[in-house]
Amino acid sequence: MGNSVHVPLESLLGRIPAQPAAPHSRSAPALASGTPGSARSFHIETFGCQMNVHDSEKVAGVLLERGYSLVADPLAADVVFYNTCSIREKAAQKVFSRLGQFRGPAGRDKIIGVLGCVAQQEGEEIFERAPWVSLVCGSASYRRLPDLLAQLESGNRRVMGLDTDTDETFETEITRRDNPFRAYLTIIEGCDKACSYCVVPFTRGPERSRSSDSVLREVRELAALGYSEIQLLGQTVNSYRDPGARAMTFAELLLAVADVPGIRRVRFTTSHPRDFGPDIVAAIDSHPALCDHVHLPVQSGSTGVLQRMCRTYTREQYLEKISMIRSARRPISISTDIIVGFPGEDEQEFSETLSLLDLVQFDQIFSFKFSPRPHTAAEHLDDALPEEEQGRRLAALQERQREIQLRRNAALAGQSFEVLVDNRGHKPGQWSGRTSSNRVVNFSSPHPSLLGQYVEVRVTQAGPNSLLGELV
Ligand code: 5AD
Ligand code: SF4
Repeated sequence: MGNSVHVPLESLLGRIPAQPAAPHSRSAPALASGTPGSARSFHIETFGCQMNVHDSEKVAGVLLERGYSLVADPLAADVVFYNTCSIREKAAQKVFSRLGQFRGPAGRDKIIGVLGCVAQQEGEEIFERAPWVSLVCGSASYRRLPDLLAQLESGNRRVMGLDTDTDETFETEITRRDNPFRAYLTIIEGCDKACSYCVVPFTRGPERSRSSDSVLREVRELAALGYSEIQLLGQTVNSYRDPGARAMTFAELLLAVADVPGIRRVRFTTSHPRDFGPDIVAAIDSHPALCDHVHLPVQSGSTGVLQRMCRTYTREQYLEKISMIRSARRPISISTDIIVGFPGEDEQEFSETLSLLDLVQFDQIFSFKFSPRPHTAAEHLDDALPEEEQGRRLAALQERQREIQLRRNAALAGQSFEVLVDNRGHKPGQWSGRTSSNRVVNFSSPHPSLLGQYVEVRVTQAGPNSLLGELV
């Protein structure tokens, strides 16, 4: 998980011929009233983690397959989907402010659907809070989305998919990927861990892995389509258990994906420390296509807090995993997630998180104030910390990490790295991309289009969050 993103799936528009929005009918939602062959349009906005971004790509595929067209403007769309995140309260609140714009006439002729974690968490209550919503579907029910859409098309006013007891994963005939060279690919969905602060096991259901055969088939198809970077996704990606006959371990699957001709980079996120074994490090060491970066959320540097979080490892055990990664022949960059202000976290426990930063020297951290979530064990814990104290700790943590990142990045000056160019800068001739170790590098080149290309860049200057370089 780690970095949170907010994506209006608009970049897809560049790759899909835009179609005019359907004329709006007054009497019924556009989907129900659409005559066969009429251009019906949809808009999808995504909140949250890469898993959600990728789920939206699959949902978009399902709609495109049914003849809908994608539009950038929610007001112009017949169907508006919000794929929501409920990992922290603020994220969950966002969807209701978005939904607010369709109260009254603006939403009358539309299908409004709430997908993802808020859908799962709030369920039917969404219809009460926002009666203009007609579809509520959590990620463990996306298999049923075509069916739910068909029900709306045949005149049903409200449909819901809120299973959690599924053992299926969500696959589509068409997944409309948002990025032409980096493909997300889910290998395991849901989570069987029970971290006391986390809503994910509730919102995304139990762990279920895809067979390695199906994963590898899709990787080969992606390679044939020109994708060169694969990012394997799962809430606990390294807890992968192959249900197929080949019974591959996660490390074996990594190597098999990396071996597919045409694939130059393989990433995976998010790893749980408990299931992070030496075979993963050995795999990275042995295959240059496996990126030299591991995202390994620690959450806290204090064993006491880790116990109350039910993380199933101690500070020392986490540090052993770090030593194992650092002992690889290739330098492997390490990023993490940290929660500050967990209920009862005292000054001593917080200082242990600060000292962990000093010890590990992470390359990047994603840090959050604890937010109590419904249905979680930590929701009603005593000793909640005041918001200001949480803020003070977050700022102190981020300041400490800023210095570490600046120092670590500065040490890279003069070195050259292969960069996959994935963005244009603000000004013409400016480009940006990522190293295998997941560092962002900005550089200039008069070349008309470097997007999707691998280039060699020498680092000339370092900031805490990115590098500046020149083409070699
Ligand atoms: N409060 C704050 N942060 C949380 N995370 C998960 N649940 C919560 C919560 N209740 C953070 C964890 C996780 C990341 C994706 O979000 O650090 O790794
Ligand atoms: Fe949430 Fe813990 Fe599962 Fe990660 S491992 S999704 S933090 S319950």
